[in-house]
Amino acid sequence: MKANEFKKRRQQLLQSVGVGNIALISSAGMHTRNRDVDYPFRQDSDFYYLTGFNEPDALAVFVPGREEGGYILFCREFDETKALWEGAHAGLEGAAKHYAADEAFSINEVDEKLPELLAGKRKVFYPLGHDAELDASVLDWLKQLREKARSGATAPHELSAIEQILHEMRLFKSAAELKLMRLAADVSAQGHIKAMQACRAGRYEYQIEAELVYHFMQAGLRAVAYPSIVAGGKNACTLHYTGNTDILKDGDLLLIDAGAECDHYAADITRTFPVSGTFSDAQRQLYQLVLDAQTAAIAQVKPGADWIQPHEAAVEVLTRGLVKLGLLKGRVKKLIKDEKYKAFYMHRTGHWLGMDVHDVGDYKINDEWRVLEPGMVLTVEPGLYIPADCKKVDAKWRGIGIRIEDDVLVTEDGNEVLTRSVPKTIAEIEALMQQAR
Ligand code: GLY
Ligand code: MN
Ligand code: MN
Repeated sequence: MKANEFKKRRQQLLQSVGVGNIALISSAGMHTRNRDVDYPFRQDSDFYYLTGFNEPDALAVFVPGREEGGYILFCREFDETKALWEGAHAGLEGAAKHYAADEAFSINEVDEKLPELLAGKRKVFYPLGHDAELDASVLDWLKQLREKARSGATAPHELSAIEQILHEMRLFKSAAELKLMRLAADVSAQGHIKAMQACRAGRYEYQIEAELVYHFMQAGLRAVAYPSIVAGGKNACTLHYTGNTDILKDGDLLLIDAGAECDHYAADITRTFPVSGTFSDAQRQLYQLVLDAQTAAIAQVKPGADWIQPHEAAVEVLTRGLVKLGLLKGRVKKLIKDEKYKAFYMHRTGHWLGMDVHDVGDYKINDEWRVLEPGMVLTVEPGLYIPADCKKVDAKWRGIGIRIEDDVLVTEDGNEVLTRSVPKTIAEIEALMQQAR
């Protein structure tokens, strides 16, 4: 991402915050995994969106109209020993030079400087209630200021969630963001193809996960966007199965939900395919139903449609199909009204996608479902999950879990499926897998 893109975002934020107010946003912290070992660092998406700065222990402050410049970055000072043990970090000079901060201060000075910066402002925008440490610090800085009231200092009297500004910005993807999302989508799509080709009975689920991650990294993308789900057979009915520890069996399906992250932008793809390379009759019928539901849902992704329309289209197709196959009994309309499909389809058909896999942005405005607009990216991911112990359905359906998930951009005249290069028709999947044997 070019420096100019971050600058444009900051300018937009400064304008929305308005002269006389101030905005704060803090970096992510490090998290301990176990004694002396940390989890890999992942920057806070809001913080990175505005700064491009990829270090912990930092606070960005935005003061519209400030004479010395409106963007102040508090970060770690450069430290030789730290550099030796932990590697490069920008330091104060780097923060100004490489990250375009108008001024940079040591993070150790934050408690001293923040009351000064807050003095005389009306409103503080920050991620209210998101980070207990920042909440406590903001209240403490305000208290310090109020204690100085007799010397003429005035403290802000309003705290406001910065998300209402920032998340609305993040919901609409720029050309530069879409470039990264397309790359994440392409690499992830290729990873799924490799996984289909590598799938064999007798291999462990985590060995198929390794094929995906190997491909992501070889293609230049360092991290996954979320823990991969590689779920053989009935494991697919556990929606957040990430153990990936079982052996794959002939006759089972394999559900893979995995995506790579490209410079903090996610892809999120699910495919379900037979371990043997050939669907059984029951698998084929349920799979085709989920695919029909996904096709119907994707057709609803267009400017002017409501957020909920793709979900409603999927529910309609799934319910009708479940009745036809004998898994539900009754009138389709009534079954939908009574949400009977939830026994087999218990999640929503999608979510916003961006820097976070479940990305930010309101789904409703004034209690009404949001209208889709060009530049928004969402997933479309219907599924069916028939519990292994479900006595209400014929035994042949039990323990089958299927989801098909693509990433879809709303365009001026409809949509573009960013992840379309992974096969998903029964014929395409069987042909690809048989070729690989
Ligand atoms: N991978 C999480 C999801 O599909 O929402
Ligand atoms: Mn997913
Ligand atoms: Mn998803």
